[in-house]
Amino acid sequence: MGNKILVLISGGGSNLQALIDKCEDGTIPGSICKVISSSSKAYGLERAAKAGIPTDVHELKSYYKGIPKEDKELRTKARTKFNLDLINLILKGYIDEKDKLEGYTKPDLIVCAGWMLILSQDFLDPLETEKLPIINLHPSLPGAFEGTHAIERSFKAGQDGEITKAGCMVHKVIQLVDRGEPLIIKEIEIVKDETLEDFEQRIHDLEHIAIVEGTVKALTELTSEAEISSKLDSLTV
Ligand code: GRF
Repeated sequence: MGNKILVLISGGGSNLQALIDKCEDGTIPGSICKVISSSSKAYGLERAAKAGIPTDVHELKSYYKGIPKEDKELRTKARTKFNLDLINLILKGYIDEKDKLEGYTKPDLIVCAGWMLILSQDFLDPLETEKLPIINLHPSLPGAFEGTHAIERSFKAGQDGEITKAGCMVHKVIQLVDRGEPLIIKEIEIVKDETLEDFEQRIHDLEHIAIVEGTVKALTELTSEAEISSKLDSLTV
């Protein structure tokens, strides 16, 4: 069956498409077992369906429905339920018992490919317990422009002469947003007076390579870890 990859998306899914294509041609030693989107409108859902990949939609707004913005306590509770339901969806394949799928097995790797929601510790802890790695693609270099609008912010810094390099990275997901250990770093030079559109296209082209290389690297690390631990097990018999 090979490694099972679960992909989290929120939008167009061009990075998901890169993963689909490179699983199909064997570059990635695995297959995408499920795509979960934080938006029912994400075009990435179409891409998954076309590739015959099962999808789920897990929208935060349905958890916040009817809770006034000012009610911080209730919204925090709703966000925690959103996170724990997402964990169940990933680890067990369902949220409500009635949707239980016989024979569901959890993924070997989670890839955030344009997932736009912060993943807090109550989401990350159960993955840590399960030793289930999760990686994220972010369109800036380590330690710069974490969070949203990274492409626009790095473009402006480049044109203002504050930075000479931009790029993207694939990193392990930790609580600190976009601060986990990088697996892949890809750099581009700043081009003076370049348009934002051209800069953005160069970043996206780089991302489509980085996301594949980051997934291969994470799976390879996984495989070697598994081999090491099985060898250790055999030693301790
Ligand atoms: C990418 O630029 C990614 O780095 C950012 O959102 C964009 C997702 O693009 N988080 P797509 O949905 O994969 O086309």
